[in-house]
Amino acid sequence: MDPTKAHPSRRYNYWLGGKDNFAVDRESAEVVASAFPTVALSARENRAFLRRVVTYLAGEVGIHQFLDIGTGLPSAGNVHEVAQAIEPTSRIVYVDNDPVVLVHARALLTSEPAGRTAYIQADLREPEKILVDPDLASTLDLSRPVALMVVATMHFVTDDHDPYGIVRRLLAALPSGSHLVMTHATNDHLTAEQYAESVAANERSGVPFRLRSRDEFARFFDGLELLPPGVASVVEWRPEGNEADRPSVEDVSMLCAVARVP
Ligand SMILES: C[S@@+](CC[C@H](N)C(=O)[O-])C[C@H]1O[C@@H](n2cnc3c(N)ncnc32)[C@H](O)[C@@H]1O
Repeated sequence: MDPTKAHPSRRYNYWLGGKDNFAVDRESAEVVASAFPTVALSARENRAFLRRVVTYLAGEVGIHQFLDIGTGLPSAGNVHEVAQAIEPTSRIVYVDNDPVVLVHARALLTSEPAGRTAYIQADLREPEKILVDPDLASTLDLSRPVALMVVATMHFVTDDHDPYGIVRRLLAALPSGSHLVMTHATNDHLTAEQYAESVAANERSGVPFRLRSRDEFARFFDGLELLPPGVASVVEWRPEGNEADRPSVEDVSMLCAVARVP
């Protein structure tokens, strides 16, 4: 773990109001916020989507296995807590490449006795290593549907790492009836000038980042059956509460979609 470098997990923790972050993470977070002032709101809305989608999949769709890649630091409403509150036998494999998350992983392993959780330290850019990990095989039954969650994580994978191929390779290991859940930061609502400012801020922040347009995001779901409402802002996906209280799509700038593997 390099204490002089900003870590995405600790930076996200800062935006969510957590205490598990260092000065270098807060500085990186403020550089991003200088170009995108509503970034903390976006993080909170993303987290609220995560809770809603796990509730929906565990409750209404009946999926009780989750492969959550890019877990982040433990926070209120971890996937296993939400899923096991609905179905205590739910099984969750968490994956993150950030050693900071590994240090905190014990909080992710507090499974209900009827279910199970595991934590794998691995990189999304090497999907085969995740798939052959013995903890994955001993936790998930890959003959039954799994929800593959890549939530607020694919924007850290730059084009030179074949982001679409990564998703294809992971889904190839999962049976029909599995689901892909993704959220992704978007440049859709930025002017050319704001976009250039964002790219420069991300470069200065020390964390590689790739904003993607709606069309670029939709390509991750090619060949899958999108669930309503299709590709949408996280604030539009099965929203709760009053419409008037909802933040704007532009302020959040985070796309999401959920799709079924045919
Ligand atoms: C913004 S957080 C999202 C956490 C959680 N999924 C959520 O939406 O609340 C992104 C997480 O992805 C992890 N991450 C980034 N690149 C990764 C990679 N190549 N492999 C695995 N994890 C990665 C970071 O370490 C961080 O913990």
